[in-house]
Amino acid sequence: MDIVVSGIRSTGNLHLGNYFGALRNFARMQHENRCFFFIADYHSLTTHPIPADLHGNVKHVLAEYLACGIDPLAATIYLQSDVPEVTELYLLLNMISYTGELERTTTFKDKVRNQPDNVNAGLLTYPVLMAADIIIHKATRVPVGKDQQPHLEITRKLARRFNTLYKSECFPEPEAYNFGEKLVKIPGLDGSGKMGKSEGNAVYLADDEKTIRKKVMRAVTDSGPSAPGQKMSEPVRNLFTIMGFVSQPGTVQHFKDQYDDCTIRYGDLKKQLAEDLIIFIRPIRSRIEDMLANEAYLARVAAEGAEKARASAAQTIKEVRELIGFKPF
Ligand code: TYM
Repeated sequence: MDIVVSGIRSTGNLHLGNYFGALRNFARMQHENRCFFFIADYHSLTTHPIPADLHGNVKHVLAEYLACGIDPLAATIYLQSDVPEVTELYLLLNMISYTGELERTTTFKDKVRNQPDNVNAGLLTYPVLMAADIIIHKATRVPVGKDQQPHLEITRKLARRFNTLYKSECFPEPEAYNFGEKLVKIPGLDGSGKMGKSEGNAVYLADDEKTIRKKVMRAVTDSGPSAPGQKMSEPVRNLFTIMGFVSQPGTVQHFKDQYDDCTIRYGDLKKQLAEDLIIFIRPIRSRIEDMLANEAYLARVAAEGAEKARASAAQTIKEVRELIGFKPF
């Protein structure tokens, strides 16, 4: 049995990248493993969200988790900010994290490029908080998309470093994981890069049919293949990649064949992709709406999750404090 921990930042609604990168296998894993799924609301503060939006964002992600099949009776679902032990471990791990290694992390460099006016210390130590999230439950597996791999490497390094420094086997080295499959990167609809919350290129799990059609029909393509067997440009390859996740294999092959013999019409490809996305997202969106309408249930899930998560975290913190040398008088 594995201990599985995964989180999603409450920066906005969840999109297909979050689903296929991290969420899709949660429902399958939760019965065979000890699973902790949380909402990374502290991590969302690196971009200074408006206080009036914070709670609504968290609530939405909680509803989305449940809509994707996480069962609070099987798994522990909680808010990061409900478990103060995480921030204690974060502080302790900061003492064994080196600024040089954090500055060299590719994700930090990306953030510095993206938000040059707000390079706060929380951005630098973002992976340290993430490591605390993960090892606080002594996780062995962490379902994530490919973009989080550098953070998992830091987590493994910190777990190892802690064990060596305090001559213990307190923390296992957790692995980035996607249920036996390769880690994935879902591309956006804008022709380059990954689908992201702040990129304006995402299809959200809460999108309605009209919105999905509009977004997909506007997706970037190219002027079409001019010779059989021509290599695909990135924007077109991206549409095929998304199609590979939501469409029937026969449908994907049909359009690939058309691409190869230069008869493809991107308008048809997009129409098909939009319809397949709609079929895929419709039941999830409907469950999100049901969950959001049930405030009392969400409150109960969050309260019970916090209690279970704290019990697990408190055990680890007790052990960590003893190893470091803190002693009660
Ligand atoms: P976040 O909120 O950016 O993304 C949540 C999860 O979705 C995955 N993901 C993607 N996967 C494939 N293709 C994409 N385009 C795509 N976009 C997002 C991410 O890899 C991630 O698994 N730092 C984390 C949140 C976090 C966390 C943790 C995750 C905090 N503590 C501990 C795991 C364990 C983040 O920002 O994810």
